[in-house]
Amino acid sequence: MTDKPRILVTRKLPDAVEARLARDYDAKFNTDDTTYDTEKLVELSQDREALLICATDKFPCEVIERLPEGLKAIATFSVGYEHIDVPAANARNIIVTNTPGVLNAATADLTMMIMLGAARRASEGETMIREGRWEAWSPTGMLGIDISGKSLGIYGMGGIGRAVAVRAKGFDMEVHYHNRNRLPSELENGAEFHETPESLLRASHVLSFHAPLTPETRHFLTRERIELLPDRAIVVNTARGDLIVDEDLIAALKSGKLAAAGLDVYPGEPNIHPEYRRLWNTFLLPHMGTSTVETRNAMGFCALDNLDAIFAGRPPPNPLT
Ligand code: DGY
Repeated sequence: MTDKPRILVTRKLPDAVEARLARDYDAKFNTDDTTYDTEKLVELSQDREALLICATDKFPCEVIERLPEGLKAIATFSVGYEHIDVPAANARNIIVTNTPGVLNAATADLTMMIMLGAARRASEGETMIREGRWEAWSPTGMLGIDISGKSLGIYGMGGIGRAVAVRAKGFDMEVHYHNRNRLPSELENGAEFHETPESLLRASHVLSFHAPLTPETRHFLTRERIELLPDRAIVVNTARGDLIVDEDLIAALKSGKLAAAGLDVYPGEPNIHPEYRRLWNTFLLPHMGTSTVETRNAMGFCALDNLDAIFAGRPPPNPLT
């Protein structure tokens, strides 16, 4: 027996994070990184005081109700927390935390990458090379769209949205945003606020999503809203797949209303809508916005800072309510 807090770690985490866990906690690790189903999660949680989980683990109210009496904390290794019923957990006096801030730069970098990938037909060009189909340089070959000089509409101007805005300015883009609340001018940093999402859409040659998935934002981008975008606009999503109605985005990519889409997230991951793979005007990545060594370590350390505080009787830095 040990007096270290007993924790379940639901996925394989970076070595440096697991080393700190092994030092400071009585940790039950997931050595082969299987994704546990609900029954397994509930079973493995039974003697635990804390859970360190990922966005792939689902904790709706009915799962929260089956967690053990002695459970004090659920720390998610993610900024997004739509996979946890936070009010249900709080009602059971379980503290829930996430990892904001530490992943802003990595996610913003990848946003610019898929924005450019979509605008400049990167998938198509790279595939042409790999398949040995490139025959010659041509003045009219592989024409894409400049992002420079275009307007970028940021839907959700939190830490990631603001990090994207900084990068977009470096690409000479004009930044517009919609957020539940207007930011103070020092955080706006010259970006133009739109009171309504519809006004943002009308102003966006490129629309990029950086909002959390909530009942209000789910399925935000419908056919009707796509119609408000300028013709040949580009849609970029590194936030959550369910912000977009897949069928409506696909129809607009096929009709030519939209020029391209850069996507890192999808409803029902990893089973993405098959049409996306068939469309050449998509640039697709497998949910890797935060996938760098530095950022994944920082996310793990942030989750542990939260747990350390809770077990030391202090308020955690990133509580969710
Ligand atoms: C996040 O932190 O929410 C990323 O999407 C990884 O899950």
